[in-house]
This record gives sequence, structure tokens and C-alpha cells, in this order.
Amino acid sequence: MIDQTALPTSLRHVRCTTPEGVADAIKTMVIRGAPAIGVAAAMGVALAATGSEARTKEELTRDLENAAALLRSTRPTAVNLFWGIDRVLSRVQAADSVPGAKRRIVAEVKRMEEEDVETNRKLGAVGADLLEDGDTVLTQCNAGALATVGYGTALGVIRAAKERGKTVSVLVPETRPALQGSRLTAFELLTDGIDCRIIPDTAVGYMMSRGRVNKVIVGADRITRDGFVFNKIGTYQEAVLASRHGVPFYPAAPRSTFDLARSNAEVTIEERGFDEVVMVRGKRIAPKGVPVSNPAFDVTPPELVTAIVTDRGLIRQPVVKSIPRVIS
Ligand code: MRU
Repeated sequence: MIDQTALPTSLRHVRCTTPEGVADAIKTMVIRGAPAIGVAAAMGVALAATGSEARTKEELTRDLENAAALLRSTRPTAVNLFWGIDRVLSRVQAADSVPGAKRRIVAEVKRMEEEDVETNRKLGAVGADLLEDGDTVLTQCNAGALATVGYGTALGVIRAAKERGKTVSVLVPETRPALQGSRLTAFELLTDGIDCRIIPDTAVGYMMSRGRVNKVIVGADRITRDGFVFNKIGTYQEAVLASRHGVPFYPAAPRSTFDLARSNAEVTIEERGFDEVVMVRGKRIAPKGVPVSNPAFDVTPPELVTAIVTDRGLIRQPVVKSIPRVIS
């Protein structure tokens, strides 16, 4: 996998050969983004399978469950992580032998890898219809190729619009504290020759008030059955400001990001370490001993959403009613 902590300064790759290695890469955000960690976690389970010395299916299941528990404990908010793990685990039951189960698991993760890119292309085609030539789109964090296996969700929509000959500019909030916007989204868009401009997170309201944003398109880590959108911290304030200024707000997410089993109150928001907030480039910028909160995600209620872009089509208002019709 690409080491996303090193971008854009250097393009380094990390090779994971054990589920522990994958779990560590997810936890430390070497790999991040909901669809990417879903497929990576599934590959972690596949590594547990290929590395297992189990002689019976029961022994193999025990090895896989141990790896799955470790991988599940890495990050709590993106539902794709749990979806990916459960999907590969479900392949064991139908197998009639240990080698058969291993083959099925490996085949399944390869399918997931291919499907992810196809899904994003479908989603991009749905979303590209919403963009007009000359639009400036505000995003948040990185919901691009790096956050998926390829092509991206929110950035997939922008890529698809470009492929159709539309000229679209992107406003990229830096996305403190891990800077996925200024490091990763800017890197991707520049590489693809898509017009973009980094702004401080604190400039979002000003840009909207000056009419400099036509649409907001963001990714999602989980969309619950009651229509709440969990995404990178800072997304909710974009949604509130978009509503204030009459700017359409579109989350873009594949089927694997929907959690139809839960409502918003049942989801854990990840709290990350305080060092991400008080340290900048290895240097402490806040007084020692000051308390810090570092929630990694926030929650946008359905009434602030204009529509949700998915690979199965557009989920329009009322989104709570439309989700089961489009998604299940
Ligand atoms: O903490 P991160 O970088 O994993 O958070 C990523 C996001 O919030 C993305 O917007 C989301 O996962 C969608 S990625 C297609």
C-alpha cells in the first residue's frame, strides 16, 4: 500500500504480510479512507488465512476470528471496515476444506478490489450529472483514489465530470489536524490536472458568503438508516454553512458505507491522540498540560443533505424514506 503519512513529500510503499501489519497500517493511517480500509482489512483477514497452519475448518475459523477481532479494533467509525471483514469471513462457511476456504477468501478479496473501482466509476457517473461547467466544488478531507482502491467517491464525481468535458474547480480545506486535504486531495487533483485551491479550514464560511462555492461534495464513513452522515470532522460545519448560503450539499458514498442496521446514536466517533492537535511538524505549539479533544469525525443530520450520490443512483429527499428503496 501507499504510505499516506509520507505523501506528498515522498511516494513510499509499505508491504504488509501479516494481519498485525495491516492493523497497524490502518491504525496509524498509513492507509485511510473508508473504502480503502474496508478492502485492506479484508486483505488482512486473507493474510491470516494464507498464513494459517490450521488443519480443520474450526481451527481456521479460530485463526480468522482472532485476526478479525484485531482488525475491527483499529478504527471504530467507518462501517466499511466491518463490512470488508464480515464479507470475507462469510466465505468460509460454504467451503468444504481448509484449502478450499483459503481459495475462496483470496478470490473474494480480489473481487472486492475490482468491485471498488467499478462502484466508484458508477457513483461518479451518477454524481457528474449534478455538476455544471464552471462550477467550484468544496470538498473535505480526501475522498479520492487514495481513500479507495481507485478513482474515489467525492473526487470520483469530479473526475467523471471532467471526463465529460466539464471544467470544475475544487476548493480543498486543509482538514486539520491530519491534513488529508492539503496533503492528499491537493496531490491527487494536481496529478490529474484538475484545477484546485487549498483554503484554511477556517475560510469555509467566508468563501460561501462571497458566493465562491457552487456545490459541496464530500465522502462518508457511515450513513445510518436514519440518514445521518458520518464523515471527517469539519463536514458538519460545511453542511450548516451550505444550508445558510443556499449551496447544495451532496455526500457521495458506495453501498458499503451504508449501515442499515444502526441509527446514528449507536455509532462510535473515533477520538484520536492529542499530539495530532498540539504538534505541528514535530513541534509543540500549545502549552503543556492543556486539555485537548480530537474527534476524528462528525455527524450531519439528513435535513442538511440535498441528496446522496451512490453507485445505485441518487438518494433524494426525504433521504430517510429513499435510503431503503435505493440501497437494499
Ligand atoms: O480519517 P480518515 O482520513 O480515514 O477519514 C476519511 C474520510 O473522512 C473520508 O471522507 C471518508 O472515509 C470517505 S473516503 C472515500
